[in-house]
Amino acid sequence: MKTERDTWNPAQYDRFKAERQQPFVDLLAMVRSEPDMSVVDLGCGTGELTAMLHEKLAAAATLGLDLSPAMLAKAAAHAGPGIEFRQADIGTALPGGPYDLIFSNAALHWLPNHLQLLQRLTEVLSPNGQLAVQVPANHNEATHEVAARVAAMEPFRTALDGWTAPVHVLTPVDYARALHGLGYTQQRVELRVYGHVLASRDDVVEWVKGTTLTSYRERLADDLYDRFLAEYTRLLAERLADTRPFFFPFSRILFWARRDSGES
Ligand SMILES: C[S@@+](CC[C@H](N)C(=O)[O-])C[C@H]1O[C@@H](n2cnc3c(N)ncnc32)[C@H](O)[C@@H]1O
Repeated sequence: MKTERDTWNPAQYDRFKAERQQPFVDLLAMVRSEPDMSVVDLGCGTGELTAMLHEKLAAAATLGLDLSPAMLAKAAAHAGPGIEFRQADIGTALPGGPYDLIFSNAALHWLPNHLQLLQRLTEVLSPNGQLAVQVPANHNEATHEVAARVAAMEPFRTALDGWTAPVHVLTPVDYARALHGLGYTQQRVELRVYGHVLASRDDVVEWVKGTTLTSYRERLADDLYDRFLAEYTRLLAERLADTRPFFFPFSRILFWARRDSGES
């Protein structure tokens, strides 16, 4: 399992906890609560939201899966009767199942081949099962463009062997089509823009350090990553207005689907 260099930092990620929580709440609102559900939360992170999911649904069993030892160490505090956390690469076969709900908030964008991924998830869903997913859809924004630009500059380009963070997220229409093709008889696919008001544009760098930049940090030696970050900060400042507070719009795709033909 790929955990030699765990660049997830729960404290950095939690700096924008309130802002990150709203999409989770919106995704959870799309789920139909049913008795005794068996739930899996893919890329559960620090487990706090997994625990909330478990409680709100009064689920029979909830399993949180994540690859990061640092995130799972935090999640352990939320384990208890009916709720368990395990280390697993969600890009490979999922343990257990079938599940009544496969839930994933802000994690599947790290994985490639979403059409195959959705098919694989559908195979471990119970006949009336529900799939609920939220992925960021901000890859065309300056935060990502500048990261790719810096990655293409030396000495980073050589150190990264030409690698830049790939975009795996599909369009809302492609998700809708895929869900239909996989036999889901009910679906909701939405693109939402979350408007975050941050103290200044410096906070955008702090935000991105907790997520998008982790994949660059994973691939660069510490001193080189520090230089990458300095260059990123300088170039991003050229793209963002220096206003206080700073308005940070963030697009996300939320989708929910279910395979049975019951009432919607
Ligand atoms: C942005 S965090 C989201 C955490 C949580 N779902 C939340 O909403 O707060 C993404 C999580 O996905 C996990 N992740 C990324 N790729 C993964 C993989 N292949 N297998 C398991 N977890 C993965 C990371 O370790 C991280 O904890």
